[in-house]
Amino acid sequence: MHKVVAIDGPAGSGKGTVAKLIAQKLNLTYIDTGAMYRAVAYATLKNNIVIDDKEAIVALARNCEIDFKDSKTYLNGEDVSHEIRTMEVTKIVSQISSIVELRELLVEQQREMGSKTDVVMEGRDITTVVFPDANYKFYLDASVESRALRRFKENQEKGIESSYDEILENIKKRDYNDMHKEVGSLTRTEDAVYIDSTDLTIDEVVNKMIEVIEV
Ligand code: DC
Repeated sequence: MHKVVAIDGPAGSGKGTVAKLIAQKLNLTYIDTGAMYRAVAYATLKNNIVIDDKEAIVALARNCEIDFKDSKTYLNGEDVSHEIRTMEVTKIVSQISSIVELRELLVEQQREMGSKTDVVMEGRDITTVVFPDANYKFYLDASVESRALRRFKENQEKGIESSYDEILENIKKRDYNDMHKEVGSLTRTEDAVYIDSTDLTIDEVVNKMIEVIEV
């Protein structure tokens, strides 16, 4: 059995940054499962499929090959790393990710990825559904205001135009949707190590996790 480090938490909690650093330090493959839902959302927009047409979205997803290479996300061979982070995709991805059949399809792919190599995988249902028996499980949290501020600053650095208020509203809505899904809802379980990163630096969070993993 390969080593699996599973990290769940709400949007903007810093899971991505932290997971990438842990992957580098411990020589694990980093899997961003949110990027997989985002890639399907992007394909939905690109193919002009209405977001209520669940069957068409699942059929589309069956023809989507999603890969990760050198910190980039590829959809059927095309680098979509930038496209999947736009506001258009962000606005619809929560609804797309609540399609039960789509989740089944992507969860299967995620389990396969984790069975091939040692991974650090982050998302919303990794510790509960994808790998409930992972070697190490973490729930990374932060206040909603600090998460919105981080996203806002990140966008500024990347040159993406956005407003703090719009991001805050979007994160609140996503929190609600993420926690009220029929399947794969974001849930904090007792066996996951809980870390509140509101007042911690990235390095402090990474060090706390590595301490747990290396014990
Ligand atoms: O982590 P993120 O913001 O890139 O995630 C994008 C969306 O996908 C978000 O609305 C939650 C959803 N998601 C999910 O339902 N299950 C996962 N394992 C990962 C993300």
